Amino acid sequence: MTDSSYRTDALIAEDIEAYLEQHQNKGLLRFITCGSVDDGKSTLIGRLLYDSKMIFEDQLAALEADSRRVGTQGEEIDFALLVDGLAAEREQGITIDVAYRFFATEKRKFIVADTPGHEQYTRNMVTGASTADLAVILIDARKGVLTQTKRHSFLAHLIGIRNIVLAVNKMDLVDYDQPTFEHIVADYRSFASEIGIADFTPIPISGFRGDNITTAPSANTPWYEGPSLIEHLETVELKSAAAQDASFRMPVQWVNRPNLDFRGFSGLIAAGTVKPGDAVRIVPSGKTSTVARIVTADGDLDEAVAGQAVTLTLDDEVDCSRGSVVAAKDDPPERADQFEANIVWMSDEDLIPGRGYWLKLATQQVTATVAQPKYEIDVNTLEHLAAKTLSLNAIGVAEVTTDKPITFEPYDESAPLGGFILIDKLTNATVAAGMINFSLRRSQNVHWQSVDITRDQHAALKNQKPAVLWFTGLSGSGKSTIANIVEKKLYRMNRHTFLLDGDNIRHGLNKDLGFTDTDRIENIRRVGEVAKLMADAGTIVITAFISPFRAERQMVRDMLPEGEFIEVFVDTPLEVAEARDEKGLYAKARAGNLKNFTGIDSPYEEPENAEIRIDTTSITPDEAADIIIDRLLGDA
Ligand code: ADX
Repeated sequence: MTDSSYRTDALIAEDIEAYLEQHQNKGLLRFITCGSVDDGKSTLIGRLLYDSKMIFEDQLAALEADSRRVGTQGEEIDFALLVDGLAAEREQGITIDVAYRFFATEKRKFIVADTPGHEQYTRNMVTGASTADLAVILIDARKGVLTQTKRHSFLAHLIGIRNIVLAVNKMDLVDYDQPTFEHIVADYRSFASEIGIADFTPIPISGFRGDNITTAPSANTPWYEGPSLIEHLETVELKSAAAQDASFRMPVQWVNRPNLDFRGFSGLIAAGTVKPGDAVRIVPSGKTSTVARIVTADGDLDEAVAGQAVTLTLDDEVDCSRGSVVAAKDDPPERADQFEANIVWMSDEDLIPGRGYWLKLATQQVTATVAQPKYEIDVNTLEHLAAKTLSLNAIGVAEVTTDKPITFEPYDESAPLGGFILIDKLTNATVAAGMINFSLRRSQNVHWQSVDITRDQHAALKNQKPAVLWFTGLSGSGKSTIANIVEKKLYRMNRHTFLLDGDNIRHGLNKDLGFTDTDRIENIRRVGEVAKLMADAGTIVITAFISPFRAERQMVRDMLPEGEFIEVFVDTPLEVAEARDEKGLYAKARAGNLKNFTGIDSPYEEPENAEIRIDTTSITPDEAADIIIDRLLGDA
């Protein structure tokens, strides 16, 4: 699945910029509307755009003509037509998951993320909500609090939105009845407190008739004394997860060094404020310094706050690069490599526990694996369900491990330093959004112990260059046979070797593992770790595992120094391996008596750039072994 919503973001970035320039000096509020077309969402958004006069004249004329044609009730314009018309325009050539619309009033400018439809609601909503400060939860006054209301509220809260408006719409259809409104508000309040929403602003409205949209109270709701929706949006003081009174943090996006006299660190301030003279600490280097200047395109600043993009210069030359975080000296953020996180799965392909994904958090990018979820959350009932994986739109809680420590804060405290996305390494698609709950203590309490005898010394004593000869191929392709000959020949040449073989390791170290994708990934992960340890000890390691997935073979390759991983693809066609069928397993698999058999009902991903490819249909195992040894020792 492609991440079209992110592409949409890029496409509209230009529009947003042009628009924002016009209204530069006004504050900006980003919000999301949650509800379905049935709740009157399109009508409401249409009216907001219309009443703020941000519609072009020709669109307005077309709209009036359209509403006459479809014959809406009374004289009113059908505002839903406007929004749907705009959507149709944008949708040419690209599927849109989230539509962003812009409008402005005297006091503020607004970007509203509209996430259409029920289908794939979670992925869309999470995308739209990820940049929003406020959520308008729409309720149909005739229906009250529904399952979807709860789902939307839960997601908005999970994403870190702390400003919630409960817009009780279609008040005209319940005769503007105060008890109906109050009953819905009370209902919502008891649910909201359950999921941690402490506060929200209820407003009775009619998007269709325009009640309490621009001015309040409407003559139809004399009992309502609060603000209109627009008044509220214009004046609400935003509570945000990244508060400005928090300690200063700025993830470094790039080091700005136009010439030798200037070295600045550019980034978006994630939390707090900064002034020249402030003491800062660079994480992870730990170096401290003092802010010299705050540079922007419009000149130097005396102060900058969360949300601003700036370039900082420091008094000292410090070790700081992309991915570093410039932080308040006395309160730097934590670092860890194991976390518990909420994960929203956004890909059609299920999560594969144990597989390496790219994890991007602020300006850091590392490899991360997700363990089998502790549980999945039913977004409708909030029940915890047992889960082995996460599918499209599922939300779960799982442990995440990164290959190196990252600088982070719990998402609750900082959305910019606690939120991350996961990216599939092969397709480059965004597959999940995550929110860190906390780091796991074991990652803080387990440190690297430095050892005095190095891997080079181990290798020198054995008088050889360590390597991992990684055989991969179908069951019955000849991996073990050839690997065995290779080891015998190397032994005779006084090389220190060790052969790790699939069938054998599965009797011991990995006897708890079967043949599901997840188990195979764990199988290869463990074998990879063992192979690496043995290579560290100076050994020439020979492994013979099907190792069917490119991602995990690449993972092992990445664990070793450049050049030490030698992939040997034993390329035997399925028909040939099956015809040999020395263990009788193909016959069993064909008969349906053996599930998940590689090549039959479980995939094998051929290497694309193996160092050595052996065609077993044209050479003998002995010849193959010689080719491999020539390559190995020729390299040494
Ligand atoms: S891997 O896929 O996880 O790398 P591994 O190489 O350890 O597999 O084990 C493969 C061996 O296990 C095969 O050579 C075969 O003897 C045996 N085996 C048993 N069941 C299966 C299966 N479903 N698929 C593949 N091999 C199987």
